[in-house]
Amino acid sequence: MTERALIRPLRDGEIPALVALAGEIWRAHYPGIISIAQIEYMLAQRYNEGLIRDELARTDLWWDVLMVDDAMTGYASYFLTDVPHEMKLDKIYLHPRTHRRGYGAMLLEHVMKFMAGAGCTRLTLAVNRHNSNAIAAYRKYGFHIAETSVREIGEGFMMDDYIMVKAVHE
Ligand SMILES: CC(C)(COP(=O)(O)OP(=O)(O)OC[C@H]1O[C@@H](n2cnc3c(N)ncnc32)[C@H](O)[C@@H]1OP(=O)(O)O)[C@@H](O)C(=O)NCCC(=O)NCCS
Repeated sequence: MTERALIRPLRDGEIPALVALAGEIWRAHYPGIISIAQIEYMLAQRYNEGLIRDELARTDLWWDVLMVDDAMTGYASYFLTDVPHEMKLDKIYLHPRTHRRGYGAMLLEHVMKFMAGAGCTRLTLAVNRHNSNAIAAYRKYGFHIAETSVREIGEGFMMDDYIMVKAVHE
C-alpha cells in the first residue's frame, strides 16, 4: 500500500506531540554523537512547549510537520536571519523508521519553495561535525561546508558544528 505523505504547518494543539516526537528521534539518533546528558539538556532547551508556542506566534520563523498516513513523522523549522535574503534551516528531523526514503528531500524541497516565495536565495544550517549521515544527506541536497563553529551552550556543553550553505540560483 502506498503511504500518504504531506507537509503542513505545525498546529498549536500539536506541540506536545511534536515535543514527544523530538524526544524519540533525539534519544535514538544522538547517542554516540553527543552525550546523553547533552541530549537531555538540548531537548529541554529547544523543545519546551512554551518556547515552541512563542515561535509559532513569530512572523519570521516557521514550523512544519511531515505527516505520513496521518502520523506525525518528522518536522522542520526555519527562520529569516539578519543577513538579507538568507534563511536558516534550524531543524530537520525524521523518525528513524522513515529515514532514507526521500522524506528529508521532500521536507527540504518544501522549505526551498517557501524560501523562493519569500525572496530568499541562501539557506544555511548547522550540523554536528560527527553527524555523518545528516552531512551526507546535506551534501546530496547541494549544501557545502562553509565554516566550522564551536560554541558553548551552557552548563559546559559544547556545539561542535559545520555551517553548511546552499545557494539558490533564480
Ligand atoms: C538527515 C535526514 C533529515 C535526511 O533525511 P532522509 O529522508 O533520511 O534522507 P533522504 O532519503 O532524503 O536521502 C537523500 C540522500 O542523502 C544521503 N543520505 C541520507 N541518509 C544517509 C545515510 N544515513 N548515509 C549516507 N548517506 C545518506 C544519500 O545520498 C541519500 O540518497 P540515496 O538514498 O538515494 O542514496 C534524516 O535522516 C534525519 O532526520 N536524520 C536524523 C536527524 C538528524 O540528524 N537531523 C539533522 C540534524 S542537523
